[in-house]
Amino acid sequence: MSQEPQTRRGFYVAAINMLGAAIAAAVAIPAAAYLLIRPKNTSDGNWIEVGSVDQLRPGKPEQVLYERKYVDGWKKVTEKTSVWLVKNADQSITAFNPACTHLACPYHWVDERKQFVCPCHDSVFSIDGKVLGGPAPRPLDRYLTKIEDGKVSIGSQAIEQG
Ligand code: FES
Repeated sequence: MSQEPQTRRGFYVAAINMLGAAIAAAVAIPAAAYLLIRPKNTSDGNWIEVGSVDQLRPGKPEQVLYERKYVDGWKKVTEKTSVWLVKNADQSITAFNPACTHLACPYHWVDERKQFVCPCHDSVFSIDGKVLGGPAPRPLDRYLTKIEDGKVSIGSQAIEQG
């Protein structure tokens, strides 16, 4: 069996086929990675630093804004959100989810009453999150907290109380 001599035309056909294969791979590999490899959820199990202990005074809850990062399907999302921080008499910190446990309206602190008040349907909570009135079915949801080097960090997921 004789081998065909390499022609210029054969060389161009092979080069064009290789170029086509390279272009197809350049498109297909990132697309396959996007569809098949889910981004790692960086928020699970991570602590989020939200402020310093020095900025808090006992009995004076502070609403602190921070950025939360999480994965929604294949999309990494960064959203601005907030947490209520309460410095307790023993210097520990309690962190409350800012959503009312009735229908998730944002509540606020009324210093004259020393209560958290939700304006939507008049739920009222004590400084330790207990329900004092209104339709809220349970105390305010909390985040785990830790203090390191004077900085307050919260867990990534709010925990239902009661
Ligand atoms: S959402 Fe807060 S009382 Fe209804």
